[in-house]
Amino acid sequence: MRTSTLATAALAIGLASATPTKSTPAEKVKRASAPAVSASGNAFWADGERFYIRGMDYQPGGESDSGDPLSDETICDRDVAAFADLGINTIRVYIVDNSADHDYCMNKLAENGIYLILDANNPKYSINRAEPGPSYNAMYLQSVFATIDAFAKYDNTLGFFSGNEVINDEEDFDTTLAAPYVKATTRDMRKYIKAQGYRSIPVGYSAADVSSNRIQTAEYFNCGTDEERSDFFAFNDYSWCKSDFKTAGWDVKVKNFTDYGLPIFLSEWGCTANGRDFNELSALNSDKMTGVYSGGLMYEYTVEDSGYGIAKVVSDSEIETTDEYDLFKEALAEYPAPTGDGGAASTTHAVDCPPQSDDWSVDPDSSLPAMPSGAEKYLENGAGDGPGLTGSGSQTAGSDAEAEDNGDSSSSDEEDENASGRIQPGRVAVTGFVAAVVAGGFALL
Ligand SMILES: *[C@@H]1O[C@H](CO)[C@@H](O)[C@H](O)[C@H]1NC(C)=O
Ligand SMILES: *[C@@H]1O[C@H](CO)[C@@H](O)[C@H](O)[C@H]1NC(C)=O
Repeated sequence: MRTSTLATAALAIGLASATPTKSTPAEKVKRASAPAVSASGNAFWADGERFYIRGMDYQPGGESDSGDPLSDETICDRDVAAFADLGINTIRVYIVDNSADHDYCMNKLAENGIYLILDANNPKYSINRAEPGPSYNAMYLQSVFATIDAFAKYDNTLGFFSGNEVINDEEDFDTTLAAPYVKATTRDMRKYIKAQGYRSIPVGYSAADVSSNRIQTAEYFNCGTDEERSDFFAFNDYSWCKSDFKTAGWDVKVKNFTDYGLPIFLSEWGCTANGRDFNELSALNSDKMTGVYSGGLMYEYTVEDSGYGIAKVVSDSEIETTDEYDLFKEALAEYPAPTGDGGAASTTHAVDCPPQSDDWSVDPDSSLPAMPSGAEKYLENGAGDGPGLTGSGSQTAGSDAEAEDNGDSSSSDEEDENASGRIQPGRVAVTGFVAAVVAGGFALL
């Protein structure tokens, strides 16, 4: 394996890669900021131009040693230099500390034309798929809203994930029953963004690579009232294993999602089963897909135990690139973002809620859980300080008086009970992020 050492200083100059893309390195350096991205019709737009996600999943340390990579200036310098060298325009970060300062790194990303899609949850503050009811509580939403507060001010915050792989293919219990709580979170996040007067930062769900409930999940997050529907839908897909558009079945995934009504992108891609040439980008950037899909995020940047990364962390200021780093860079250069609207639909619309079946347990006529009454005051007053990553966590806070403690003392018990009602028998707590690494990593090997 070739290992070239990427020193930060060298890379700042090293932007001059010989890539035949539209934007020359010089332009990239000149760009002062990244214009805000919005969702409209079934696509994303920035400054009146269609925006395609050409990005990478980014969480140095993986799930076991996850800190906030966007609050450390040294790590930020190290990695943003590589992002610019690769030529990506988006990163997805799974965990941040919502009590930390992110100005330096977000500005650094913006200077390089790089956007952030951020998971608003983390392992401590998330919906517990085994016991979703109690985990949907005021303490949880306070953390989610505080994450929004921490990032809404940056133009290059492209979007928020309201949940990550909460619904999966777990056999011991029915994870589709967690869907209403994730959808309620999505609704609450959009409501909060509006209530705070922030720009309309897109909010959507990132689905696990599970074929048995992918379509139902997509439909569920885009059915019902406009207040309840997402701004986009994303799913993880590891079906293209050094193959081609048809062999991978991506042609069917275009067909099945045609006229879905919202922007769609792949929140993780990059099967490693047959080695990698990253030719997925040939399809993602061609008109075979652009009418329905808005790009995707390659999993992942740093080399972790799961074996998907393209850069080995040597120290906080140094990485070693791998052969796959070069291949990914070459593929990005070979397949630039298309010009024009890519065949995007100009209007958005809802779809029918999926019917109940062996693979989907949510009653299409049931209403979403109401926002826990203790969380309503945040809409008016703001969420206040985020708990960061060291707090006690919220997953069980709704099962007793804690949610009430955290909330408005004038709220009625009755409302809280319904909003956080137990609908699942107790199980080991599993967070979305842990499963993301399993589904996106070990389980695929
Ligand atoms: C596409 O839709 C067909 C018909 O509903 C279904 O049988 C198939 O599993 C779907 N495939 C994918 C990849 O979504
Ligand atoms: C809680 O649920 C019960 C039973 O479904 C219902 O009668 C009651 O009105 C609900 N209370 C609130 C505050 O939504």
